[in-house]
Amino acid sequence: MYILALESSCDETSAAVVEMGEKRKILSNIVASQVETHALYGGVVPEIASRAHIEAISGITEEALSQAGIPLSKIGAVGVTNRPGLIGALLVGVSFAKALAFSNGLPLVPVVHIHGHVAANYFSYQDLKPPFLALVASGGHTSFLEVRSYTDFVTVGRTRDDAMGEAFDKVARVMGIPYPGGAEMDRLATMGRADALVFPSAAIPDGSLDFSFSGLKTHVINYLHTQKLRGQEVSREDLAASFTETVVSSVRKKLSLALERTGCRTFVLAGGVSANSHLREALRRDCEARGIRFCVPPPSLCGDNAAMIGAQAYYEFLAGRVAPSSLNAYASAE
Ligand code: KG4
Ligand code: ZN
Repeated sequence: MYILALESSCDETSAAVVEMGEKRKILSNIVASQVETHALYGGVVPEIASRAHIEAISGITEEALSQAGIPLSKIGAVGVTNRPGLIGALLVGVSFAKALAFSNGLPLVPVVHIHGHVAANYFSYQDLKPPFLALVASGGHTSFLEVRSYTDFVTVGRTRDDAMGEAFDKVARVMGIPYPGGAEMDRLATMGRADALVFPSAAIPDGSLDFSFSGLKTHVINYLHTQKLRGQEVSREDLAASFTETVVSSVRKKLSLALERTGCRTFVLAGGVSANSHLREALRRDCEARGIRFCVPPPSLCGDNAAMIGAQAYYEFLAGRVAPSSLNAYASAE
C-alpha cells in the first residue's frame, strides 16, 4: 500500500510517499526546513512557521509524488500529523491533507507526531515489531513509551519540565551557537573532556522514570554567566562534553530502570536528539551489555520528516483509525 504523508508540526514542512506492507520502504521524503529563518530569532516563531508551511506544502507534495514516481491514483491513504505541535503550523498540514483526501476519495489518517518518531525505526529494521520500549527525545518532548502494539503506546516516564532537545538548544544559545544548537554541541563535545565539569543529573532520584532538564539547563547557563562576570574563559569543548555526559548518564540511569520495570527485550531510540552520537553510542553499548536489541534511525530520519508519519499512518489505518473530514489539530499530546 502506498501512503502519502504530511508533517508540519514545527519548523519543517515535509511530504513523503512510503510503501508499507510486507516491506517498509521510503519512495520519497522531501523536507523543507525553515531553520535558517527562525535562527534569526533564536527559536521558532509560530506565525512565521505557519506562513512558511503554507508557502511550501503544495510544492513539496507534488515533488514527493513525482520523485516517488507514484500518481495520486495509486495512493491508498493520506497520513498527517495532527498533534502535538504548534497549532497554526499543524493546521496547515491538516487542512491540506483533508482537502487532498476529500477531493481524491482517500482515507484520512491522523498521526501523533511522537508515535511517528518511533515509527521512523521501521524502515531501518524490517523485522522490528512491538512490543518494545522506546525513548522519544526531541525539541519539544522527552518520553519513555512502552509500545505494546503498533498503535498502543503507554507513557511510562517523561520530562516534568523542559525537553532534552530544548536543554541542548538553550545551553547552545548562551554559548553563542545559532538555533538549533544540538548538532553543533554534539560536534564540540567530541573534542572536549567529559569529566572537566560536574553538573546536576537530569534523572529525578525518586524511583520514577521521569526527568527534569530544567535544573540542569539553568545550572549550566548560570555557570556560563558567572564565569563571564569573573572574566574567566570557559572551554566550549569541555562545557559541551560535560553537559552531554550529564545528559547521557541521566538517560542511562533511567533506561536501566525502564528496562527492568517493563521487561522489554528491545529498545528503540527516536526523535531529533537521537541523532546525538554520544547518546547513540552509550545506549547501544548499554543495551549490548544487557543482551537487549538496540534500534535507532539513521541521522537523516531522526529529525522531523513525513516518511515516519507515513509509516505510523499505515498501522493506524490497519487499526481502523480513519478520521472524518471534521478532523482537527491539537497543540497537546493527549
Ligand atoms: O524531532 P525534532 O526534529 O523536532 C521536534 O519534534 O522537536 O527535534 C529537534 C531537536 C532540537 O532540539 C535539536 O537541537 C535536537 O533535536 N538535535 C540534537 C542533535 N541533532 C538534533 N540534539 C543533540 N545532538 C544532536 N546531534
Ligand atoms: Zn519531532
